[in-house]
This record gives sequence, C-alpha cells and structure tokens, in this order.
Amino acid sequence: LPDAVVLWTRLVADPFDAAAMGRRDVAVRWEVAADERFATVVRRGTALARPELAHSVHVDVRGLRADRVYWYRFRTGRFVSPVGRTRTAPETYSRPNRLRVGVVNCQDFQNGYWPAYVGLAAEDLDVVVHLGDYIYEYDPQSAYPDRRHTAPETPGLDQLVTLADYRARHAQYKTDPALQRAHAAFPWIVTWDDHETENNYAGLVDEIDDTAARHQDPAAFARQRAAAYQAYYEHMPLRRAAVPGSPDYRLYRRFEFGDLVRLNVLDTRQYRTDQPGGHPSDFGPIADGLGNAAGTLTGPEQERWLAEGLRTTHARWNVLAQQVMVSQIRFPNFLDPAHPFPPIANLDQWDGYDPARTRLLRLLRDARTPNPVVLAGDIHSTWCSDLRIDRDDLAAAPVAVEFTATSVSSDFPAAFDGPLKAANPTLNPHVRYFDGSRRGYLRMTVDRERWLTDVRTVDSIATRESPVRTSASWAATAGVPGLTPA
Ligand SMILES: [Fe+2]
Repeated sequence: LPDAVVLWTRLVADPFDAAAMGRRDVAVRWEVAADERFATVVRRGTALARPELAHSVHVDVRGLRADRVYWYRFRTGRFVSPVGRTRTAPETYSRPNRLRVGVVNCQDFQNGYWPAYVGLAAEDLDVVVHLGDYIYEYDPQSAYPDRRHTAPETPGLDQLVTLADYRARHAQYKTDPALQRAHAAFPWIVTWDDHETENNYAGLVDEIDDTAARHQDPAAFARQRAAAYQAYYEHMPLRRAAVPGSPDYRLYRRFEFGDLVRLNVLDTRQYRTDQPGGHPSDFGPIADGLGNAAGTLTGPEQERWLAEGLRTTHARWNVLAQQVMVSQIRFPNFLDPAHPFPPIANLDQWDGYDPARTRLLRLLRDARTPNPVVLAGDIHSTWCSDLRIDRDDLAAAPVAVEFTATSVSSDFPAAFDGPLKAANPTLNPHVRYFDGSRRGYLRMTVDRERWLTDVRTVDSIATRESPVRTSASWAATAGVPGLTPA
C-alpha cells in the first residue's frame, strides 16, 4: 500500500516441529529504517509471536511514505534477524512513470533447486507477485537427497492433512536460501493455487482422482482446508482476513500503483465449482468445458467484485493476477498419443469453465477496461497469448493479452514440449510464444506507453546456481490490442 507494508517473520526452535517453541507468547521487537544501516529508524514496536499462529509475526506497519524503499529487522532475546528490504506503493492519485514486477509460481522443492530465485533477487524490481503452488503437498520422494519433503503424519495419502503437516512443509520451503534472498529483497504479493492445499481441489471438493480412502466428504475436507489456509497465512506477509481454524479465507484483493497499474489478485480455487466431466486427470473433451453453463472459477461474489473493479478503473493497465490460463488451448491428445486428434482441453484451467470465461472477456470488451493484462501460472511452461472472445476469429482485435509464467522448479513433461511447439501454430494461432523446456520467472517493466515482459530462464535446476538469461521478450503497447515481439 502507499502508506503501509506487512512485515513477516516466524520464530522456530525446530522448523519441522512448531510445538518445539513451547506454549508461551514471545515478544518480538521490530524496526523499520530509511537506510540499510538503521541510522534513521522511522518506525519501531513490539509484536507478540503466539503459539496459536506457530509463533509467526505479522506487523502491519502504517504511516510510511509512498514510493519509498525501507529496511526492516526483528529482534528477540539474543537473536537478530537478517535485514529485509521492502517498498511502499506510489501515492493513489499519483502518475508513476514506471513499475517493475517479477512474477513467479510453482516451486516443487523435490523437483530441483531454485536458481531462479537467485536470479530474481538480483533483479531491480518494485514488487514480486506469486501466483501459487508455493508448496506441494506430496509425500517425500526426490532425486536430490537434500530436497526430500517432510514426512506427513499420514504417509501414503500423498497429501498433507493436519496443521502440523502444513506448518512443517511451509517451514521446509522457507529454509531455502535462494527463496529467503528473494523475500528479503522485495515486497511480495501472494495468492495460492491448489497445491498449497491439495492437487486440483475445487471449493470443498477434494482431488478429482481421489477414490476410496483418499476421497473425503466435504466436512472432512473443510478441516484439511482450514489447516492449509491457516498455515499459508502463518507463512506469508498477509493482512489477517479470517479467524485461524476457519475453512474460509478471503484472499482476493486489489492493489493500486498510482494511476499506472490496478492489480486484481484472484482466488480461483476456494470458490470454484468442480471440474466438469469427472475425468481422472486435468484433461478431457473440449465440449465438457464449453457445456459447463453453471461452472465458475471465482464464485459469484468474487466475479461481481472483479467486474466492478474492471468497470470503474482509471488505471492505464488493468491486471488480473490469477492461477490458471484464461487462453483457450487445444492440446494434442496426450492421453492417446497414437490418436492426437481430436485435441483435448485442460479442464482445470478456464477451458473447463468456458461460459464463465466468455462472460469475463465480454466484460473487458463492453466495459472498455483500459489495457487488460492477464497473468497466469500453474502449467509449468511459458505462454504469451492474445485473448479473443472467439479464439478462431483472428481478424478480431484481441480484448486482452496473457502472460503465463513458467515454473520456478516444478516439472513440465519434456515429451509435451516438442508436440506443443509443433501444434500451436495451427491448433492455437493466438498463442504467440510457448516454451515448456525451461524453468524461471517473468520480469515486467511497465511504463505509460508499453508493457514489456521478459521471459527469464535458468539453464538448469539440478544446481543451486545457474545463469539466468532472457529467452524471449514480448510487449503490449497502451491503446493497441494484442502482443508484439520486443
Ligand atoms: Fe504447479
């Protein structure tokens, strides 16, 4: 916010056992300074780290100056935290000339290391946006001995269930030095996807392919979701939006960067209807999504809130920061490689909820929302696309552009990369760029005339450090529909 930031930390005696901190509240002193050496401390105070919230600390520091860099640190007993750097947003009624944003998602700890975060931390950014899959719920199994997941209390389900499970997993992810560096370098705006709770859940319906003992009734899954949401809050720099132990948490919210960018952060998991068709994987017939008349990814309340935000905006760029691709994608039929046609759809994405997507795209057109930009993740590959109401009407002006960020470390099957690169020009001509072979993040430089997205990728995730390069650059020009290569 222009006058506030949330500072976060957590006290641990043993990162994998929250109970090791004991049952007592612990006082934590915090300081915010205008300089790295803390010569000019502008705010200070004491917060209580409480056992009910795993001794996490969230300080909502108010009264700061807009568009400033600040440094902060925590102190308790003889312990002093490393110094973090953060930044306030520009004044609400200002006219900023530039915003630099990093976009990340999907960091499966077990699949490799995070040189992407070493690269991200070295960028010159105003804010980082995380689009979800901050943790993965799976059981321990990794090619790297030091990247094996914590063991959940109920092994064999391949999912976390209890609050202790989720806390230990979040704490494990937070032990990574590259991730720590990226958090210490910038303020983060976060939203979750499915794996912070359970793969492919929808509202209070658990994973689509869960059967028998793994399948839970909604009341049991509500308890698991409450544990997952509480642990997420405990480990993220969030303003509190629910009572701990509640299965609901309002995560969708808006951020303004002067009149340059309005950032609508969505939650497409908590309120969605079940994926159509009941298929055992993400994939199914395209028709299932087209016919999903009652389907919603946002729920009616969030949809109204979003529509209001897109109708009333005065921002030059209007961003939807959300989890799954809006772009219509025809996938060659991976389920039956001998018969790649007819193509299929990923029904966990907006393709499974086509009528809801059409409502969204029509709204952007009819409301004349200035320069809409959709951010997405979830699919562990980079996609830059023009969004049209009718995907095949290439003569029509796109109503928005979409940038889908590749994963920090989560797997994209190498076998899908070549066939998609070959098929996209004919099956999905609105996709201007696709690459499934590299891990990394997106770097966005936004000014009043142009939105520039650089696809920043690492050579390998088999090592903790790896060179970062720009493997592609795509831009949108204010007032001009669609993407252009940059
Ligand atoms: Fe993911």
